[in-house]
Amino acid sequence: MVTGGARAVARCDALGVAPYSDMEGGLFRAWLTPAFAAAHQAVNGWMAEAGMAVRTDAATNLIGRYEGATPGAPALLIGSHIDSVNDAGRYDGPLGVMLGIECVAALNAAGKRLPFAIEVVAFGDEEGSRFPATLSSSSACAGIFRSENLQLADRNGVTLADAIRAYGKSPDDIPAAAYARDEAAAYVEVHIEQGPVLEARKQPLGVVTAIIGQTYLNVEFLGEAGHAGTVPMLLRRDALAGAAEAMLLGETLARETKGEVVATVGRIAVAPGATNVIPANVVAIFDIRSGSESARAKLVDTLKAGIRGIADRRHLGLTITSPREVATTPCDAQVQDRFADAVLALGAEPLRLGSGAGHDGQAMAKLCPIGMLFVRCRGGISHNPMEYANPQDLGLAVAALIGFIERFEPEKLG
Ligand code: GLV
Ligand code: MN
Ligand code: MN
Repeated sequence: MVTGGARAVARCDALGVAPYSDMEGGLFRAWLTPAFAAAHQAVNGWMAEAGMAVRTDAATNLIGRYEGATPGAPALLIGSHIDSVNDAGRYDGPLGVMLGIECVAALNAAGKRLPFAIEVVAFGDEEGSRFPATLSSSSACAGIFRSENLQLADRNGVTLADAIRAYGKSPDDIPAAAYARDEAAAYVEVHIEQGPVLEARKQPLGVVTAIIGQTYLNVEFLGEAGHAGTVPMLLRRDALAGAAEAMLLGETLARETKGEVVATVGRIAVAPGATNVIPANVVAIFDIRSGSESARAKLVDTLKAGIRGIADRRHLGLTITSPREVATTPCDAQVQDRFADAVLALGAEPLRLGSGAGHDGQAMAKLCPIGMLFVRCRGGISHNPMEYANPQDLGLAVAALIGFIERFEPEKLG
C-alpha cells in the first residue's frame, strides 16, 4: 500500500471547514480572506514538518523549499492553489499542494537529496473568486502579473492592492515574486481530473497533454428601468431579456461545434434587481473554452456579432470587454513522458488527456516547462461539494510524483 494519500485527503478535508472556510456549512476560501490566512498557517506548519524552509512571497504565495544535494540549485516547482470557488469541493487545488508536501515528507524521511531543489508552492488565486481576474499569484511567480489588476475591486469595493496591504505585503514588491528563469527547472501539478474520462477508462491516473484555452467576455447591457406593471411590452428596453437571448445564443453556438467549444454564463449581475422593476443594467460573464484556438476565436467573433445584433434590435446600450484570454497551453513533451514512465512503473496505464479546466500551469508555462498529472475523481464531479478522490488513488499519485522526481533530469528539458 502506498502511503501519503490518506493524510493528503485528511488534510484537504480539514481545510474544508471553519476556520479555513468563510462559508457556513460549506467551503468558500477566496484569496486574502480570514479563511485564506488560516489555511496559510496550517499549510505552513505542514510544509515545515515535512522538512521545508517556508516563506511567503510578495504575491502571498506560500512556498516551501527542500534543498537539493547542492544548496541553491534550481528547483522543481510542485504546486497548486489553495483558494476555492464558492461552495467548493475540498480537493480542487489543495490536493496538489498536499501531495507535493507528501513527496517531500517521504524524501526527507528517507534522507534523500536530489540534484535539484524542490519547492512546493501554494498559490493564492487560481479561481478568481474574489477579484475579477484569475491566476494572479502564479502570474506573479512567472513574472507576468498585470499591475493594472491591483486596481480591481471585490464585491465590497476593496481593491486588490488594499487587500495585499492588509495581508502585510506591499503591492510594489510583486515584481520581486517572479522566479528568475534559471531558478525554476520546471513546474508540475497534480490535480483531480474534474471530468469523467479516467473513471470511465478505469484508470487512477492520467498524463495531461495540454490545458485548453479560455476567453472571458464581460457583456454589459444597458436598458431602462421602468414600472413592471405599467410599461407596455413593446416599449420596454429590458436589459435582462437581452442578456437571456445572448446566453441562449452562446449555448446554441457552442452546441453546434459538437464538443469542440464549451460556453457558460455562471454569473450575472442585475440592477436594480427588484421583482417589480424592468431590469436596467445586466452584466453577464461568458466563459468560453476550447482546445482549438481557431474554433474558440470563431465562436467568440460570431457570438460578439450576434450580441451586437440583439442589443441593436432591443435598443440596448452594450459594452463588451475581454478580461481574460488564455491560449491553449501544451504540457512539455519530456515532462509528459517522465510522468507516463512513472505511471507505467506503478502498473497503471498512462492515459493521456487534455484539461478542460484552467490551471496555474497556464501562467507558469511563461516561465518554464510545465506538466500535470490527473487523478481520477468520483463521477468526474468538481466545483461542487460532492467532489471526491479516494485515498488509494492519491497514494498512487504520491508514488507517481516521486517516480517522476526520480526520473526528472532538468538538463534534458528543451
Ligand atoms: C478553474 O477551476 C477554472 O477552470 O475555471
Ligand atoms: Mn477550480
Ligand atoms: Mn484547480
